[in-house]
Amino acid sequence: MKYLMFEGMKISQIALGCMRISKLTEKETDELIRSAIELGINFFDHADIYGQGKSEELFGKVLANDPSLRDKIYIQTKCGICKGYYDLSADHIIDSVNNSLERLHTSYIDALLLHRPDALMEPEVIAQAFDKLKAQGKVKNFGVSNMTPYQIALLQKHCHQPLKINQLQFNVVNAGMIDSGINANMDNDASLDHDGGALDYCRLNDILIQPWSILQASWSKGTYLDHPDYEKLNMKLAELASKYHVNKSAIALAWILRHPANMQPIVGTTSIKHLNELVQANDIWLSRSEWYQLYLANDRMLP
Ligand SMILES: NC(=O)c1ccc[n+]([C@@H]2O[C@H](COP(=O)([O-])OP(=O)(O)OC[C@H]3O[C@@H](n4cnc5c(N)ncnc54)[C@H](OP(=O)(O)O)[C@@H]3O)[C@@H](O)[C@H]2O)c1
Repeated sequence: MKYLMFEGMKISQIALGCMRISKLTEKETDELIRSAIELGINFFDHADIYGQGKSEELFGKVLANDPSLRDKIYIQTKCGICKGYYDLSADHIIDSVNNSLERLHTSYIDALLLHRPDALMEPEVIAQAFDKLKAQGKVKNFGVSNMTPYQIALLQKHCHQPLKINQLQFNVVNAGMIDSGINANMDNDASLDHDGGALDYCRLNDILIQPWSILQASWSKGTYLDHPDYEKLNMKLAELASKYHVNKSAIALAWILRHPANMQPIVGTTSIKHLNELVQANDIWLSRSEWYQLYLANDRMLP
């Protein structure tokens, strides 16, 4: 496993996302967490809404059964998504953290992210909530998810706590933040900027990018692996998988790890077999030409 230094913590470059673990039993969750740790993964991503709290609850039961695990890992969670609306009010942020701490059976979380931009968010109020959680020792680091540079800058203008993470959708199929850069200055659809330049802004400001859903085409289609709509891409993934003696999923992950922004992808598998296949990406360094071949295999063109 490769590691990144982040705010004094040595975090695994590949993190395990826990959104889908709510369907597992306690025993399966225990086995998944321990397998991840054995593979060198020490960073786990949660959100208050995953499984309506069940993901954190299951994870917390494993920690309660073996409290020695807590010191070996970093736990991140998120707040702000409610049923039918977003809520980044101070009361909601603080309540959500307290509930997450209880479900996770821990006295602190290593990183708290604002899950999505709330149109009604007031930066001054969020700053107060963050200061309180930091002073109480309940949250060590803060960040955001799915936010544009201006949204982050506006929050940061008021927040005393540095915003050090932006979790964003990014994979070889959903690569808008790269498309717009490559097509800058061109009169084509690919040049459309959907995130306000999030990639460059995060790099300029030392904000860790955490790509989410690295294998998903969309919620409705599911994964692009072996999906008939992505035949050309799957052929290229298979060709490189055969060259590097790994599975296609590892090549898809290696494509993200090859980017010089030093991102921390969050993998969402609940299968120990799939996790073992994915971490092999750590040993692959795609050539520049291979990286572009994969990028172009999803029906893209260079300007
Ligand atoms: N910030 C946000 O807005 C946001 C949004 C979505 C997700 N997230 C975070 O990102 C994490 C990852 O998201 P995700 O679960 O959508 O990510 P993902 O890693 O792209 O998808 C995992 C899914 O792909 C399936 N899959 C199929 N074939 C696979 C293979 N060969 N190898 C591995 N997986 C395969 C997995 O099934 P198996 O379980 O059977 O392997 C699982 O259902 C979440 O857990 C969450 O922490 C954040």
